Amino acid sequence: MVTLLIVYHTQTGRTKAMAEAAAKGAASIEEVIVVLKRAYDATLEDLINCSGLLIGSPEYFGYMAGAVKDLFDRTYEAARGRREIFRKPYAVFVSAGNDGMGALAAIERICLGYQFKKVLEPVISRGEVGAEAISACEEMGKTIAAGCEAAIY
Ligand SMILES: Cc1cc2nc3c(=O)[nH]c(=O)nc-3n(C[C@H](O)[C@H](O)[C@H](O)COP(=O)(O)O)c2cc1C
Repeated sequence: MVTLLIVYHTQTGRTKAMAEAAAKGAASIEEVIVVLKRAYDATLEDLINCSGLLIGSPEYFGYMAGAVKDLFDRTYEAARGRREIFRKPYAVFVSAGNDGMGALAAIERICLGYQFKKVLEPVISRGEVGAEAISACEEMGKTIAAGCEAAIY
């Protein structure tokens, strides 16, 4: 069975709206199980068991949310070098006030360490999450889910 993991953090709901849009897009692909989790609730097993993942974060102080960093901190040593993690397809979405590039760069740098494979361009939303960002996240979810289902990555 193909599972797409969507992990995110949110305080005021914007990143959550993006995550839910991605989940909706992914759920439109038959045969794909969507696991939508807050980063604090996600575990090493979630990273191992998924076929691909989307990582969503607000930008805080030019960096990812501490909660998303916490997931990496908790899982990196045990995940490193594991066959089930190697080249796992992933993509990132970020909600920011006016920037988002720092959070994105930090997440992508750490994902290099996990040896995840970036398969889609990121979605960055600035300010309120509008229809365009929602639609981009839906598309992102649908595309990575379909790619995982077809085993093209
Ligand atoms: C402590 C804190 C630090 C922030 N730092 C940044 C920042 O460096 N760059 C930026 O563009 N937005 C920054 N923001 C704004 C948030 O990224 C933005 O409001 C985001 O949409 C919040 O997402 P959420 O609704 O999922 O919590 C900051 C917000 C907080 C609370």
